[in-house]
Amino acid sequence: MDNEQLFFALHEGLPRQGPGSDARTRKALESVVLDTNTPNILDIGCGPGMQTRVLSRRFPEGAVTAVDLYQLFLDQLKESMRQEGLTNISLLRASMDDLPFEPESFDLIWSEGAAYIMGFPQALEYWHQFLKPGGYCGVSELCWLKHNPPKKLREFWEAGYPAITDIQGNIQHITSAGYELISSFILPSKDWETHYYTPLLERIAEWRQDPDLTPEAAQVLHEEEEEISIFRTYRRWYSYVFFIMKKLK
Ligand SMILES: C[S@@+](CC[C@H](N)C(=O)[O-])C[C@H]1O[C@@H](n2cnc3c(N)ncnc32)[C@H](O)[C@@H]1O
Repeated sequence: MDNEQLFFALHEGLPRQGPGSDARTRKALESVVLDTNTPNILDIGCGPGMQTRVLSRRFPEGAVTAVDLYQLFLDQLKESMRQEGLTNISLLRASMDDLPFEPESFDLIWSEGAAYIMGFPQALEYWHQFLKPGGYCGVSELCWLKHNPPKKLREFWEAGYPAITDIQGNIQHITSAGYELISSFILPSKDWETHYYTPLLERIAEWRQDPDLTPEAAQVLHEEEEEISIFRTYRRWYSYVFFIMKKLK
C-alpha cells in the first residue's frame, strides 16, 4: 500500500474525519435563519457525514447534497442513512474545487474541517457563486487562538498548513469573499477528542498489534500520533473555529 492507501485504510469506518460534534453543528445552525422550509443544502467534504445527518434531521423537508472526493466515505454515509432512515440526502462524488452546480442553487452551504483543502479564502470565493443571494454558509477552519506560538508548534503547522491564520485574519477573508459574518465560536477540545482522536487512537492501537506491520504503516501511525500529541500539549494555542456567514445580496 502506498501512503495514501495506508491513510485511508487507517481512517476507514471512523465516525468523523476531523474535529466536530453534533452539538456544535446544531449550535452553528442556530445562527442560520432561512426563509424556506424546503432549503437546498450542500455539505462539502462530507466525509462519513456526521454533520450531514444533523443537517438532514434539522431540515427534514429540505434536500441535502453531500459531496466528497472519496467513495469509501460516501459509502459509509450511505450505510448510516440507511440505518437511520434518512431519505433527504443525495451523495455526489466530486471535487470541491470543480462542482457541477448551477449558480445560486443553494440556500445553505456547509463544510466542516474541509475548506483547508482548497484554502479557506479560495474555498469561500469559489463556493460563493453556488449560494442564493442572502444564503448562509457555515464553515469550520483551523485558527491560531494566541499569537507567538512556541517554536515546535509553529514549525508543525508551518509544515502541515502554512496558510493557518488567526480568527481576525479569517474574518477578513470572509468579508473579502463577499459575506457578512453572522457568528463564530471556537470548537472545544472535546470536539477533537470524542469522535476523532479517541477512535483514531483505538485504531492505531489495533494496528500496532499486527506483527506484520510494515515500516511504511508504522511511519503513518507515528505521524498521526505526533499530531495528537501536539494537540494535547498545545491545544490552548489553536483550534477549529466555526464561522457562520451570510452571502451579501
Ligand atoms: C478533515 S475531513 C472532514 C470530513 C467531515 N466533514 C468531518 O468533519 O468528519 C476532509 C474531507 O474532505 C474530503 N476531501 C479531500 N479532498 C477533497 C476534494 N478535493 N473535494 C471534496 N472532498 C475532498 C476528504 O475525503 C474528507 O472526507
